[in-house]
Amino acid sequence: MNQPELTLVLIGFGNVARRFVKLLSETSDRLDFTWKIVGISTRHHGSVVAPDGIDISRALQTVEGRQSLDRLDPEPRERSGIDVIRQVADAMADEAAEGRLICIETTVLDIDRGEPSVSHVRAALEGQAHVVTANKGPAAFAYHELEALAESVDRVFFFEGAVMDGVPVFNLVRETMPAITVEGFRGVINTTCNFILSELERGTEFERALADMQSRGIAEADPSLDVDGWDAAAKTAALVNVLMGSVITPHHVTRTGIRDVTGMDAREALGRNKRIRLVASASRQGGKVKARVEPELLDHHDPLANLVDLNNALYLTTDLLGEVGIVQRGGSLTQTAYALLSDVSRISQRLKEL
Ligand SMILES: NC(=O)c1ccc[n+]([C@@H]2O[C@H](COP(=O)([O-])OP(=O)(O)OC[C@H]3O[C@@H](n4cnc5c(N)ncnc54)[C@H](OP(=O)(O)O)[C@@H]3O)[C@@H](O)[C@H]2O)c1
Repeated sequence: MNQPELTLVLIGFGNVARRFVKLLSETSDRLDFTWKIVGISTRHHGSVVAPDGIDISRALQTVEGRQSLDRLDPEPRERSGIDVIRQVADAMADEAAEGRLICIETTVLDIDRGEPSVSHVRAALEGQAHVVTANKGPAAFAYHELEALAESVDRVFFFEGAVMDGVPVFNLVRETMPAITVEGFRGVINTTCNFILSELERGTEFERALADMQSRGIAEADPSLDVDGWDAAAKTAALVNVLMGSVITPHHVTRTGIRDVTGMDAREALGRNKRIRLVASASRQGGKVKARVEPELLDHHDPLANLVDLNNALYLTTDLLGEVGIVQRGGSLTQTAYALLSDVSRISQRLKEL
């Protein structure tokens, strides 16, 4: 297959998904596939299914103008994300059978059970679609089940954007470190909290720094998920499930957020040449994996203490390679959108190799 023609259905059309479709257009001359979008589902902005392809500029204008996508649908009706996935899988049965249908799942993180995103992924795989998601929920709550389902239907379940945006954390290990055992990890993996802690050191108020992250579309839709450490706990659970082969959920992660860290705490630490950072970590202890997320007072020579503003880093402890670190300098929506694009591109590559 020369240039695979991919068919996409978008479940969630918020900051990340909209940046993703713009990035697809901006990079079209560099991509090794062509694409059309045949379905979009949202919670408050309606849905549209159009097997011949949706006019994506109109869809962007509609949602950015706070109108309903129903107006673009020839037969508008109330539909859940699962309804849209099933309708598209039926309408695009040939594309699905050929492995050219991809569900892009970018709904918001639900920290109770990872729903409805886990059900979206399951429904898409059952409809023979590949799945690409930036949502942490599926890998944090149901990685092993969904991966087994994907394998059983010969489709992929990719989620590189779930941790550290476009920086290849999962792919780094899966693609380039055969036979490695990850013994543990330590990292700063929540951009919003790192930005707030950096701003507290400069004298900015907590609420103002958080509002800045919300206005840039980086904070979670419910920012308490960032501040209370839930987002980092979900990422930690995903890393443990995928890289360490254990089976946990975010609720198994011992968790303290940054809500109680004051500007005075942050500046006092800096005055002593130290820094407070929200650290996510996991290690094997007596056959079990212990995972935690908590603010730590770090010495200045700790590599995690050098991370300011939007920077993230993850250090893996491995049996054969020792400690391996990966640093992200400045996360943004473009990086998250790039994670989706890179996962889609891997699917295209896979089709070309058939
Ligand atoms: N923003 C980032 O920098 C970033 C980075 C890495 C990962 N992520 C993850 O990426 C995902 C998307 O983030 P975002 O910033 O794009 O969030 P967002 O702007 O809040 O968009 C979420 C989208 O999902 C839709 N949605 C919510 N529940 C739905 C449901 N049950 N069925 C169908 N659609 C539903 C929303 O519809 P309405 O708008 O109509 O309610 C909206 O279109 C989240 O899981 C987030 O954790 C985000």
